[in-house]
Amino acid sequence: MAARAVVVVAAGSGTRLGIGTAKAFVPVAGERMLVRALRTVLTLGEPTLVVVVAPSDRMDECRALVADVAGAAAAFTSVVPGGADRHASVQAGLAVLPDSVETVLVHDAARCLTPASQFERVFAAVAGGSVDGPAQGGVGVVPALPVTDTVKRVAGDVVVETVDRSALVGVQTPQGFPLAALRRAYAVAERAETDDAGVFQAAGGVVRTVPGDADAFKITTRWDLGRAEAVVAERAAARTLDGRAGSDVPVGSDVRVGLGVDVHAFDPAVPCRVGMLDFPGEPGLSGHSDGDAVAHAVCDALLSAGGLGDIGSRFGTADPVFAGAAGDVFVRGAVALLQGAGLEPVRVTVQVIGNHPRIGARRDEMQDALATAVGAPVAVSGTTTDGLGFTGRGEGLCAIATAVVRSAGAVAPAL
Ligand code: CTP
Ligand code: MG
Repeated sequence: MAARAVVVVAAGSGTRLGIGTAKAFVPVAGERMLVRALRTVLTLGEPTLVVVVAPSDRMDECRALVADVAGAAAAFTSVVPGGADRHASVQAGLAVLPDSVETVLVHDAARCLTPASQFERVFAAVAGGSVDGPAQGGVGVVPALPVTDTVKRVAGDVVVETVDRSALVGVQTPQGFPLAALRRAYAVAERAETDDAGVFQAAGGVVRTVPGDADAFKITTRWDLGRAEAVVAERAAARTLDGRAGSDVPVGSDVRVGLGVDVHAFDPAVPCRVGMLDFPGEPGLSGHSDGDAVAHAVCDALLSAGGLGDIGSRFGTADPVFAGAAGDVFVRGAVALLQGAGLEPVRVTVQVIGNHPRIGARRDEMQDALATAVGAPVAVSGTTTDGLGFTGRGEGLCAIATAVVRSAGAVAPAL
């Protein structure tokens, strides 16, 4: 049985869209929102249970639709009737999941163009978050985008003040949580919230953000519907261009590879931080920042894949702002720059070369910590150089990373 699940809420009436039919059944460029959302969910790598929360008066139609889209994966799907508001619909979806599910993502069918990578990013962050999250319950994860408009607080039509937007983000779905903790949060919720992170946080849970995706916007109004149709048309055009170029990469994808290398000398006077983990008692690495050669190599590989320069030119390693900065800051910064260029990480590998610290026993932990920052899987390996060279003499540590990135949303299947 799958250890992870996605609840797709599709029971809303779509009042603001004003088409007079349940929103999830409204077509976007000829295909219903729910079908588009499900297609993406059904491409996720690992076995994933899918619960569709449907309008209670359209259960049969919804069951048929889900069976049709899921095909051979139908055994992993179920359809349940929704409630009076989103909060109640999510609860109905959570109720039917088996207790063996560890991680659940809750997704709005109305965000039907959300790329598969966003689901994987949220799954990875929930899994990674439990490492340093609170001992009980783990962390909740929401995809978020910076707010770009100037934001004002108003009383009626009078502006009261400008709100500092640097501390604001807009959040999307899917939102991910450890199932048991989310169920507990819903069980004690005193009022309906507009998203699951709100419920989780009201119950005392910690919620973290990962980068969102512009294509994961929610279709609420007619204007949004037009925007969604334009996105679908753009994706179709990109596919046609790829086809014309005779490319042998999968249709609609735009894959790029990057390389990053970093070296730091050992300095026994500083704490040892490698691959975003602390290694107490081990000699540290000298450097302007925390000397985390692994994080820096990953950062450079990501930047290189995007043709975005390197860590020194992007984050000014001489800049006092970055003095003592944790490797995390550089990796997240590289992911944000990629995102700004319309790219997203797919996978990263990094090899740690040196006599110490030993990676083997903490490989999983390191992979999780790095994956949380990258928003995609990271594979870590370690080696020595048989006593040769500066690594062999124990003078320093080297890390070599590769990164694969692609156009954000390039492989979403719902075309
Ligand atoms: N939703 C749900 N059950 C409800 C209300 C909403 O499952 N009782 C789902 C919607 O289907 C949608 C998501 O929650 O996928 C986000 O809700 P929203 O965008 O507000 O959709 P609607 O409630 O359908 O739209 P409106 O508020 O305009 O009526
Ligand atoms: Mg609504």
